[in-house]
Amino acid sequence: MCVSLTFLIIQLLLEGWEKLTRMAPVGLSGPTYKVHQVPEHFHEHFIISGYRHPKSTPFQCILSVFDATNETLNFWTHFLPSWYFLWILRDLWDTLDFKHDSYTWPLLAYMFVCIIFPLASATAHTFNTMSDLARHICFFMDYGALSIFSLGVAIAYRAYCFPSDLRNTWFGHHYTDMALINSVICTIASCQTRFMPPSTLRKVMRLGAFAWPYCYDSIPILYRLFLCNPHECLLQSQFIHARQFVFALLAAFLYASHLPERLNPGRFDIIGHSHQLFHVCSILGTMDQMQAILYDMKARRAELSESSWEYSSVWSTIGVILSVMAVNSLIIAFFSVKLKLIFKKFK
Ligand SMILES: *[C@@H]1O[C@H](CO)[C@@H](O)[C@H](O)[C@H]1NC(C)=O
Repeated sequence: MCVSLTFLIIQLLLEGWEKLTRMAPVGLSGPTYKVHQVPEHFHEHFIISGYRHPKSTPFQCILSVFDATNETLNFWTHFLPSWYFLWILRDLWDTLDFKHDSYTWPLLAYMFVCIIFPLASATAHTFNTMSDLARHICFFMDYGALSIFSLGVAIAYRAYCFPSDLRNTWFGHHYTDMALINSVICTIASCQTRFMPPSTLRKVMRLGAFAWPYCYDSIPILYRLFLCNPHECLLQSQFIHARQFVFALLAAFLYASHLPERLNPGRFDIIGHSHQLFHVCSILGTMDQMQAILYDMKARRAELSESSWEYSSVWSTIGVILSVMAVNSLIIAFFSVKLKLIFKKFK
C-alpha cells in the first residue's frame, strides 16, 4: 500500500516535471523561442528552447523572471543569494562595531562585494535580451563585478587569513596591490574578448581573466593548507577553506563541460542546466569562504591587531573597492561606446 502510494507520488511528480519543462511557451513576458528562431550569437550549446525575444523591452525582461525561460533560474540563483548576504551583514552589524572598530573594515569591504557580484550577475541575466548592444554591456557588467569581487576577497584574505610566515615578505607587502592590478587588467581583458572572433585564444583569454585572479587570491590559502605552521594548522577555518576549493572546482567543471544538458539536449532548458548549477556552486563556495574568513577573523584577533593593524583607514578597504568600482565603470563605459560606434558602422 505504502509502496504503491510512493510510486504513484513519484510518477505524478515526474509527470509534473515533464509538463513543466515542456510547458506551453507563452508566459507573462510573451512567447519563448526555439534555438533556431533566435540569432546565432544568442545560441547556447545544448539549450534547445526557452529563449526570450532578442529585442525584449525592459518591462518584458523584468516580467520574464517570473516566467519559465532559460534564464529564469539564472536570475534567482544569484538574486536571492545577494539578499542572503545582505541579511548576514545586517546580523553582523548587531554583533560587530563596524562604525568605530577598524578591525572589521576589511570584512565590511568583503561583505559589500559579496552582495554586489550576484546582484550584478542577476541584473545582467535579466536584461541581456534587450538588444545586441545590451547583451554585450550586460556581459561587461558581469566581468566588472567579478573583478571587484576578486579584489574584495584579496583584502579580506590579506587582513584575516594570511599565513604569518608570508606576512612580512615582499609578497605579503604587495599582495593587495597586485590584486588591484589584476582586477583592472582582467576587466579590460575580458571586455576586450567580446570584440574578438570565436577562437581558442578568445576562450583562453576569457577563462584566464576569471581564473587568474581567483588562483592568485588563493595562494596564501593554499600555503596555509599545505605548509601551515603547527599553530595555524589547528585553526578551525582550515577545513572550510579547503571545502571552498571543492565548490570552485565543481563550478569550473560545470561551466566548461556543459553538463548535464550535453547528455540530453533540451531536457534541462528551463531547470537544471549547467549555468544554474554553476551559480549554485559558486554561491556555496562563497558561503564557505565567508565562514572561513569569519572564523579566522575571530580566532586571530589578538595576534593580528597587536602586530600593528594595517587597515586603520577606511581608504585601504572600502575606499579601494569604491575606487576600483569607479575605474571599472569607466572601462565599461569606454567599451560600450566603442561597441556602439562599431554597430553604427555596420548599419
Ligand atoms: C537563454 O536564452 C538567451 C536568449 O533569450 C540567450 O542569450 C542565453 O545565452 C540563453 N542562456 C542559457 C543559459 O541557455
